[in-house]
Amino acid sequence: MDWRKTWRAGVTPWDAGTSPPALRRLVDRGAVPSGRILVPGCGTGYDLATLARTDREVVGIDLSEDARKAFVAAYPELPGSVVYEVADFFSYAPARGFDFVWDYTFFCALDPDQRTSWNQAMQRLVNPGGLLATLLFPFEDPISGTQGPPWPVNTAMVRSYVEDGFEELKTTVVGRTHPGREGKERLVLWRREA
Ligand SMILES: C[S@@+](CC[C@H](N)C(=O)[O-])C[C@H]1O[C@@H](n2cnc3c(N)ncnc32)[C@H](O)[C@@H]1O
Repeated sequence: MDWRKTWRAGVTPWDAGTSPPALRRLVDRGAVPSGRILVPGCGTGYDLATLARTDREVVGIDLSEDARKAFVAAYPELPGSVVYEVADFFSYAPARGFDFVWDYTFFCALDPDQRTSWNQAMQRLVNPGGLLATLLFPFEDPISGTQGPPWPVNTAMVRSYVEDGFEELKTTVVGRTHPGREGKERLVLWRREA
């Protein structure tokens, strides 16, 4: 999948125009820490805006300069420090790690043969004791679909990549979702081992 080309052509069918209710709920109930937050494959960056707060440094990365432009146009001003970097997640090497990483529609967007590299990058980027939150979509258990993106995903599949290094904290069946995604989302929280 050529993401830069897709963005340049303005073909972004995944773009729901706002953050998923599950993220807003996490934020509202204080489950997102302060500190450094990363959103890989952040697209238009709605989730950066939802996570922005004066005591957070929020970093979004995406391959596409057009995605960054869409973010800048949508959010000229946000509280705290919010940085949007045009970068490849797999080679992204910031000076410091992150306390919370939010993955929504990123894992499922990657080719299946990139999943081991996704895990290696997460192990490198999440600070010991930090949280990785994966909002899994489209959730299937068992997996029946064989095409993507979005590639069908489930907890056992993600666990098989992250289990050496992340402790599984909780899986939640998500009630409120974007229209059309009802019943197809699970929120799974993982803690990076010390
Ligand atoms: C399915 S879209 C989801 C965007 C956003 N999370 C949303 O929900 O609107 C996947 C995004 O990941 C970006 N992407 C794909 N591979 C990437 C990589 N290796 N590094 C950074 N971003 C990447 C794409 O450009 C695209 O914006």
